[in-house]
Amino acid sequence: MVTETSIEVHPLDPLSADELIRASSIASEHFGSPDSLRFLMVAALEPPKGSVNPPRSAEMVCIDTSSGLTTEVVVDLDTGRVTSVAERPDAQPPALFDEYDRAEAAIRSDEGWRSAMVGRGLNEVQIDLSFIHLWPTGNFGSEWETKHRILKGIVYLRDQPDDNAYGRPVEGLIAIVDLVDNRVLEVVDEPSPPPPTSSLRFDHDHSGPARDDLKQLDIVQSEGPSFNLQGHLLTWQKWQMRVSLHPREGLVLHQIGYEDGGQVRPICYRASLAEMVVPYGDASVGHYFKNAFDSGECGIGRLVNSLELGCDCLGEIAYMDGVVTDERGGARTIKNAICIHEEDAGLLWKHTYRHSDDRGMQSWSRRSRRLVVSTIATVDNYDYGFYWYFYQDGSWEHEVKATGIIQTMAIEDDDPQITRHRIAPQLAGMHHQHFLSFRLDMDVDGGPNTVYEVDTIPLPLGPKNPFYNTFTAQATPITEESQSGRVVDSTSARHWRIANDDRNNPIGESPAYVLTPGATVSMMADEKSLIAQRAAFARKQLWVTAYEPSERYPAGDYPAQSEPGQGMPSWTSANRPLRQADLVLWYTVGMNHIVRPEDWPVMPVQRAGFSMKPWGFFDRNPGLDVPQSDHCEHDHGHGSRNHAHQSSNGHA
Ligand code: CO
Repeated sequence: MVTETSIEVHPLDPLSADELIRASSIASEHFGSPDSLRFLMVAALEPPKGSVNPPRSAEMVCIDTSSGLTTEVVVDLDTGRVTSVAERPDAQPPALFDEYDRAEAAIRSDEGWRSAMVGRGLNEVQIDLSFIHLWPTGNFGSEWETKHRILKGIVYLRDQPDDNAYGRPVEGLIAIVDLVDNRVLEVVDEPSPPPPTSSLRFDHDHSGPARDDLKQLDIVQSEGPSFNLQGHLLTWQKWQMRVSLHPREGLVLHQIGYEDGGQVRPICYRASLAEMVVPYGDASVGHYFKNAFDSGECGIGRLVNSLELGCDCLGEIAYMDGVVTDERGGARTIKNAICIHEEDAGLLWKHTYRHSDDRGMQSWSRRSRRLVVSTIATVDNYDYGFYWYFYQDGSWEHEVKATGIIQTMAIEDDDPQITRHRIAPQLAGMHHQHFLSFRLDMDVDGGPNTVYEVDTIPLPLGPKNPFYNTFTAQATPITEESQSGRVVDSTSARHWRIANDDRNNPIGESPAYVLTPGATVSMMADEKSLIAQRAAFARKQLWVTAYEPSERYPAGDYPAQSEPGQGMPSWTSANRPLRQADLVLWYTVGMNHIVRPEDWPVMPVQRAGFSMKPWGFFDRNPGLDVPQSDHCEHDHGHGSRNHAHQSSNGHA
């Protein structure tokens, strides 16, 4: 692996710390450098696709904390000028870290809230040790939600400052805080079950001793890894891509391509998590409003962890840092934000067959190896790992790993457990779902592309189906945006094929990639619910839109306290044509979470994702050229002869 430091800036590179500081200072001067100016997000403004020598620009979202006014600013870093300023008076961008701190202080010093805590029988020590979790509120039409910039504070008890607070919710006590005035607008205090008397911590002192029968597992790559990282350009065998961290979307991959016949063939121009929403299915006062848009309301990228070798990642790891704003015009470097490594991935292909001569059985097999590019973001109680995998057979995948601590509520012993499930004495987890929208700006063989929905269906009975056994794969093009909200159907193995019909592969077919869903789920909130309208993208698994650079976030640019109908429904109402066009796919991964006791006190990783497989993109198995592993002795017949009795003919 070669890591060079003096590489020219590529137009798709994220801002360096120096660029970020310079852009912030130019914007600040434009506003007269007020003390109340904060930077919520500062990122490189991506040039339009295909532009030649685009200016290096930064886009930023600023908040004036004295008025709460949001302003979007673009700075041209080549000329040092502000090129665009747009006020967004109705927008509620994610809360600043500053605002979280001030909101918590406002709650703690609020007399109404303190007396409600005392009313629950809590003393001053317990009140001071309590944990306040601040939540975006959604928008149910109240004056607080439509006219103020707010968060809701939910409270939990702790005996020690580092207790797992989620074990002891103070149910039904919620403080609504105005982030501009720094004051509590209202304290909701409804009769509720008492907090559980104890919580479960997950350190060994409290949860029990560590098991002692694990032997050492070392991953050694004595020659180093097989990938190469030059600046943000990552190459691994025939794959290449550009890797960066965006403050809102987190991990972004650009220009994913595969080298074939001496040239890099484009597959996807840009792949990222565009939005997330986690709707909860319980109607009680402390939970009905929980619909976290973890990306648009919080900013996944600014919340990514600094990863630790041996803990988060194992083996020969290359890390990439991320740079985000410190909210006051400076840069905050997230060390080791992105992890890049390769893994053994089991079997790539194998066949064993009998020779017609006396050599007996011969076995051919190849180990699969995969390239992993990943980040982990902590969004309050939950932790999300985002893993892109690339394989030697031309396929790639995304896997989301959800872990961390579930949302909890205090319950009575006789709770009927209809919209929640008991996980510990006096404690339940509410039913909820996680929907993650991945934006895939497709570019199969350079485009233009057409998406086909493919269903496997039996043929009609009749002369063409005399034995009633025939079935076909029916491909239907998605020709305009009004047809674009598609749902999964596992009964027909439904998948979506992204083809370049302008090109032919050597056997006369359109080269394509196929998106195959993993396990997923529909949104359970009714279509009349506000969340189904504010997060309409999550009601269908696949959307296809015509490329438009401003269409980036499928629940709208600012989903906090948003009005219904933003993003995907408004974009697709344009009904643009989609055949042989520059297309963007939006695939929503759904995770269903009926919480179980084993999810407590910290949840084992839950996985979900989707895969992208070549479909006629190559004219044969592209992994034929993968060499046999040094550890493997077969391919030459030896070592297999004595197994000849195990199998006599070739039922595959
Ligand atoms: Co969950």
